[in-house]
Amino acid sequence: MSDCLPEDCERLLLVRDRAARATAIVVVHDTRLGPAHGGIRRWAYAGPDEAMRDVVALARAMTYKCALAGVAAGGGKAVILDHPELDRAAAYRLVGRTVEQLGGIFFTGPDVNTTAADLRTVAEATRFVATDAPDGPGDLAAATADGVLYATLALAEFLAIAPADLRVVVQGLGAVGVGLCARLAERGARLFVHDILPERTATVVAEFGAEPLAAEQVFATPCDVFAPCALGGALTADVAASLPARGVCGAANNIFADERAAAVLHDRGVVAVPDFLANAGALILGATWNLTGRRAGPEQLLRIGETTREILRRSATEDRPPVEIALAVARERVGFGGGAS
Ligand code: NAI
Repeated sequence: MSDCLPEDCERLLLVRDRAARATAIVVVHDTRLGPAHGGIRRWAYAGPDEAMRDVVALARAMTYKCALAGVAAGGGKAVILDHPELDRAAAYRLVGRTVEQLGGIFFTGPDVNTTAADLRTVAEATRFVATDAPDGPGDLAAATADGVLYATLALAEFLAIAPADLRVVVQGLGAVGVGLCARLAERGARLFVHDILPERTATVVAEFGAEPLAAEQVFATPCDVFAPCALGGALTADVAASLPARGVCGAANNIFADERAAAVLHDRGVVAVPDFLANAGALILGATWNLTGRRAGPEQLLRIGETTREILRRSATEDRPPVEIALAVARERVGFGGGAS
């Protein structure tokens, strides 16, 4: 089977609006647990093959994320192939029409380069999209910060460190990073923070008594937990080989820049909570709203902590990186045969 026709996907739709010079790919990976959920990414891909590989990998990851979060939803994703002549609004309407035609087996929302205004454009063509309307699911970034906090507390417990004794390096002080700092500061943790925007670092230093780090100190400051809350790909195998942390837990998607990084950390005894487990708060809010019309309760977010405890215990018992265990658990819940591939 070719890379571009992955046999685990239920639907792969390549759609075009010729007049708008717009091409998009919408993938429904798996709906066995419920309707697919996944945002819209707009990116200047090298070509359709690269876009197809990306959207399939992202949709697959959403299936695992939903399964692990315990929501009755599956994985999907949409990508718009960006280029300088793209009619942006028409491209988002194209995705909206495609999502509408799927008739409710796929709910979409934000992802890289898709703004709240873009989502309102999508909503002109479909009911199955999360917008920032006031009667929506609630504060998504706050829910993500809650989930990362619960995962961090489970990690601290696993490492036998009291929350008030935690030293946490937070990289990236956007909506989630700041929320995480606030929650950790409330519990007495000592914070070391960095954002490429100096004013964001200064605000967190002033508000939460955090200690500012220069860029070159981010991977070199001894800590209990390294919390990546900026972009993905923070941890290369080289960084993993020397990161002076006892654990890793943050919001950034795809924290590992390459496949070896997770194994390198594990071999050094550094406990890395899988990103797709820790950062599921927004998904839990969004999917619960889409599926039930209700806002998610706090107990649904607390489950992130419980699942983290279970995964870390198994990782220690089986001597395998937590991400391998998490993928195996997710695949089992969805009903895939086999292990953690
Ligand atoms: P954001 O865009 O509000 O904040 C990101 C921050 O990282 C910005 O302040 C930016 O200046 C900073 N940054 C970028 N590169 C940096 C670097 N190299 N070093 C230090 N700081 C850097 O994003 P948000 O919403 O806070 O999300 C953070 C991460 O969590 C992202 O990777 C996002 O994909 C992921 N995530 C967010 C969710 C949410 O509910 N907002 C849900 C799931 C994942």
